[in-house]
Amino acid sequence: MSISLDTIVNLSKRRGFVFPSSEIYGGLRSAYDYGPLGTELLRNVKNEWWRSLVQLRPDVVGMDSAIIQSRRVWVASGHEQVFTDPLVECRNCHQRFRQDKLEDPEQCPSCGLRGQFTEPRQFNLMFRTFMGPVEAEENLVYLRPETAQGIFINYENVRRTCRLKLPFGIAQIGKSFRNEITPGQFVFRTREFEQMEMEFFCRPEESSRWFEYWVDHRRQWYLDLGMTEEHLRIRPHSEDELSHYSAATVDVEYLFPWGWDELEGIANRTDFDLRQHAEHSGVDLRYFDEQTGERFFPHVIEPAAGATRTTFAFLIDAYTEEEVNGETRVVLRLHHRLAPYKLAVLPLSKKPELVEPAAKLADALRHHWMLEFDVTQSIGRRYRRQDEIGTPYCVTFDFDSLEDHAVTVRDRDTMLQDRVSMDRLVDYLRDKLEV
Ligand code: GAP
Repeated sequence: MSISLDTIVNLSKRRGFVFPSSEIYGGLRSAYDYGPLGTELLRNVKNEWWRSLVQLRPDVVGMDSAIIQSRRVWVASGHEQVFTDPLVECRNCHQRFRQDKLEDPEQCPSCGLRGQFTEPRQFNLMFRTFMGPVEAEENLVYLRPETAQGIFINYENVRRTCRLKLPFGIAQIGKSFRNEITPGQFVFRTREFEQMEMEFFCRPEESSRWFEYWVDHRRQWYLDLGMTEEHLRIRPHSEDELSHYSAATVDVEYLFPWGWDELEGIANRTDFDLRQHAEHSGVDLRYFDEQTGERFFPHVIEPAAGATRTTFAFLIDAYTEEEVNGETRVVLRLHHRLAPYKLAVLPLSKKPELVEPAAKLADALRHHWMLEFDVTQSIGRRYRRQDEIGTPYCVTFDFDSLEDHAVTVRDRDTMLQDRVSMDRLVDYLRDKLEV
């Protein structure tokens, strides 16, 4: 089913997934704020990434580096010199654009005039700020534009303290900042966003094999979390697209409402970063192989995904509309591991004799899963609301529950209902939710 960007933006706002940042002051067009449901969804996406890349692997560890690092990091990595996009300005309406993203390189998308663009100028995407009270060149620092460099500069700290032997990976999730010329498509391209990156260090001669391995592994991660296979593709970069550090890169692309676009880049960064940091810092970052006595720079395979962008793609992919009894039912068919709430506990009526025991049941279930307790509106409308926010199961406490100590459990996708005894409820739900 193809859906419009507006549909997702509206749902996000209406149900509290994502709000424009600084909205009461007219919005900032750079960043977004995540509401209660969006925060849960984003957190679940990050947790699933961490589980797959760190928790379940003996060869990968995690870390969390600072956002503000020495300026020398970005000189060594090449970002200060080459992390740029070509900027053009329309002489007529003075709007600015990324030249390489223009549909027609001659025509201004804002005022429509042709041939009015200035010569492209290379614009550095890093946010600049000053450390300490004096705004002088020697106090200039950047907000990190990627989490990767925080890993490279800690490579030796982590290797040594965790006694790691090649091949091994170091993973990090965190905020990154890029002063994008044209942010847009909702949370797809923002100036503040979150990344999930892993640097996998290996012997140079094994890098091609590991590259293939990580491309397959990352593709499978999206599929295991329910992403539609036909909406996912792997696109190798052409020679002229490659970043300054890369020997080979593929993009994992998703079919967004506006067409195929990047979700994640998987790059063979060779030994570029470790070599650069060794040279600029004077610290020997070569790996010592105890068995062979060799010293060498490991090569690096990097799966680099956007956490906020991936969350957006899962939201789009899960959105469905279907006809039920002549009405449109909106269902977010999110994988249950990603769903913001796993359960909703719903007393059938607002009468205290139902609300009180249902609230007690909800309090007991809260120890196991994120859930919502909802007493407002008719039960039909409450089911629809939960369908629309992707809650896999609704647990309804009705008048019979007072007698038979059982509740009705309704499945979001099939709408089928099961009567389940309350003393079996946790096991029943665990079987459904923890597979
Ligand atoms: N360390 C390599 C690196 O940062 P990248 O392809 O520039 O590679 C990786 O970024 C991922 O980060 C992208 O595939 C995308 O998902 C996400 N990303 C990059 N810029 C973004 C932006 N302005 N807004 C949201 N996500 C972004």
